[in-house]
Parts: sequence; structure tokens; C-alpha cells
Amino acid sequence: MKIFIDSGDTNEIREAQEMGLIDGVTTNPSLASKSGKVFKDLIMEITQIVDGPISAEVVSTTAAEIIPEGEGLAKWHKNIVVKVPLIPEGLKAVKALTAKGIKTNVTLCFSASQALLAAKAGATYISPFVGRLDDISTEGMQVIRDIRLIYDNYGYETQILTASARSPMHFLEAAKIGSDVITAPFSVLKALMHHPLTDLGLQKFLSDWEKAKK
Ligand code: G3P
Repeated sequence: MKIFIDSGDTNEIREAQEMGLIDGVTTNPSLASKSGKVFKDLIMEITQIVDGPISAEVVSTTAAEIIPEGEGLAKWHKNIVVKVPLIPEGLKAVKALTAKGIKTNVTLCFSASQALLAAKAGATYISPFVGRLDDISTEGMQVIRDIRLIYDNYGYETQILTASARSPMHFLEAAKIGSDVITAPFSVLKALMHHPLTDLGLQKFLSDWEKAKK
């Protein structure tokens, strides 16, 4: 499973990259505006840190506007993936952008049926938001299971990018189901590395080693 960091904070993106954790980056308009940077400057800075897919989201809502906006974003760098909302006009734009050889990440997906339509439109990635489904008492990971089944039934090549991941359990479940990618905040990625028995075990090994040297 590929691991992307979901962040607009270049310090943490750099730290995650240096730890060898990540294959790519996702951003969204909320994360980008939180960074306080000009959007293009932020994305270009990220391209200098990570050599992998970097999702940059459009803010237009009609196909006539999304298509040129997406073409513009794709010209910024070879690794840009144009993130498009899963609305009817968005799917129309995904079809057109795909025909032009531009990679897309269809975002704000909340059902397997929506994911099937995104695949038919030619999306490179589909981003189902598991955490936000959990927030409304629906099992987010079930959508990932359903999409995996449907994509495998029909041989769709669209990659499942589990998004809005909020915990190590989302990570574990996504890997068990066969999600192609997961994107998660740095806090979740760091939490994955820790286990209290690892820390206790290391402490014991080192103290035994010290004793033996005396
Ligand atoms: O990748 C989508 C993600 O940014 C949304 O996460 O935590 O705002 O639901 P969240």
C-alpha cells in the first residue's frame, strides 16, 4: 500500500519524507489555506521535497472552468495530480482531463456507487472519506471494501486512495482490504510506528547490556 501524507505543512512533509515514510502528498483547499502560503508557492515547494504524486485541488465547480483550471495546475509540475470534486460537472471534467493525459484524484467520495462512476470517467485515484463517514455513524471502511469488490469485478484501474483517515485502525483496515493508497495526517503516520512493548523491550535490552558491561 502506498502512503501519502495529507498535509499543507511543508515542515512536517519534509520530516515525513526524511523518515522515508511517504510516496506522495495530498492537499485540499482547507489545508492549503491553513498553510498561509500562495497556493502555487506551496505546491511548488512540496514538489521540491517529495518526488511522487502531489494532489492539488481545483476550486471551480463547472466543467467549463474545472478543465482549464486543471490543465493549468498540471502544467506546474510533472507530478501534479488534479483533484476534482465528485459532482456531475466534476466527472465531466475528469473525462476530459483524462483524455488529455492528465492524472486526476476524484475527491469527496462517500459511496461505492460514486466511486464506480469516477472509475468510468477515467479517474486515476478515487478518494473516499472514511473518517467523515464515521463521524456520522456510518462505517467508512465498508465503503472501501465495496469499492475494492466493484473495481475488481470489472477490472477498473482507478486506484483506491483511502482518505480522511484519522487513526492507525483506518490504516490497518485499508491495508487488509487492499486499498492501493492511504493518505493520512502526519500525527497518524507517526502513531503507526509506536508500540509500548517496543519501547519497553528496548529499554530492557539496553539496561541488560549496560549491566553486562560492568
Ligand atoms: O484527504 C481528505 C482529508 O483531507 C479530509 O480529512 O480529516 O478533514 O476529514 P478530514
